[in-house]
Amino acid sequence: MLEVKAEHLSFAYEKELVLGDVSLHAKPGDFICLLGQSGCGKSTLLRLIAGLEKSDPNQLQVGGKPVEKPSLDRAMVFQDYGLFPWMSAGANIDLALKQKFPDWSKEKRKETTLLWMNNLGLEESLYDKLPLDLSGGQRQRFATARAFALDAPLMLMDEPFGALDAVTKALLQDTVLQLWDKEEQRKTVFFVTHSVDEALLLATDIVVLGQSPSRVIYTHHFEEGHRPQRDTMFSDPEVMELRNTLFRIIDQEIQSKAKAAREAGV
Ligand SMILES: Nc1ncnc2c1ncn2[C@@H]1O[C@H](COP(=O)(O)OP(=O)(O)OP(=O)(O)O)[C@@H](O)[C@H]1O
Ligand SMILES: [Mg+2]
Repeated sequence: MLEVKAEHLSFAYEKELVLGDVSLHAKPGDFICLLGQSGCGKSTLLRLIAGLEKSDPNQLQVGGKPVEKPSLDRAMVFQDYGLFPWMSAGANIDLALKQKFPDWSKEKRKETTLLWMNNLGLEESLYDKLPLDLSGGQRQRFATARAFALDAPLMLMDEPFGALDAVTKALLQDTVLQLWDKEEQRKTVFFVTHSVDEALLLATDIVVLGQSPSRVIYTHHFEEGHRPQRDTMFSDPEVMELRNTLFRIIDQEIQSKAKAAREAGV
């Protein structure tokens, strides 16, 4: 549970300004769901928080300090899974544990790896498979298991359930929520998704980024005890109103980007 503070954060890859002016404050234990159209800079924002891209020290702070480089207190689930293809999926988790917990025995690492595989619904027989021999959904689950196994106070999850079927997705959403909720000190989570419903179900705070160069165009905070629940949210008028608002805002951004492209003759 680390706090993350972005104040007028801007970022460019070479000359392309991706983040224009992003301000947000994640308090320790917040579960922030980031929404926004493709290319608006969601992954870039996570990479900046992870320390994989360089940010202005005055514009982005994690745990009260500027982000200088990657750190083991931040676990990332990459959009493309980020598993090393030359080692087995299980060995990918084992390696991360070795880096984070150098004193652990081989047995303890194996036991922890199998525990997290099991938590994410991965059979033990998948341990020795190479990532390329797994399905997309299994790869996503290995990447998620690895992030949880590291027990980092800040979790950066980039569309972790994008490649899953609806049933598995629902199971894993519940698993992630339970794991986050049961801890005395909840982890701070940034979770990128394209699904408004997923955001409604998981978030303490929903943050929508506008088109690139992006800024925050909408936020919603759920008070503790008033977060939407899977079995009741679709019959709750307040949640449905918020859902419509989110769809409308995202749709407006898509329309205005398309219009700007037409006017520019693209
Ligand atoms: N390494 C890079 N070098 C140069 N440009 C990049 C790089 N990574 C991303 N970009 C550009 O930055 C912009 C934002 O990319 P980013 O991956 O952050 O978007 P996103 O919101 O995560 O999109 P999606 O929803 O499709 O994953 C895009 O225009 C992309 O082409
Ligand atoms: Mg992305």
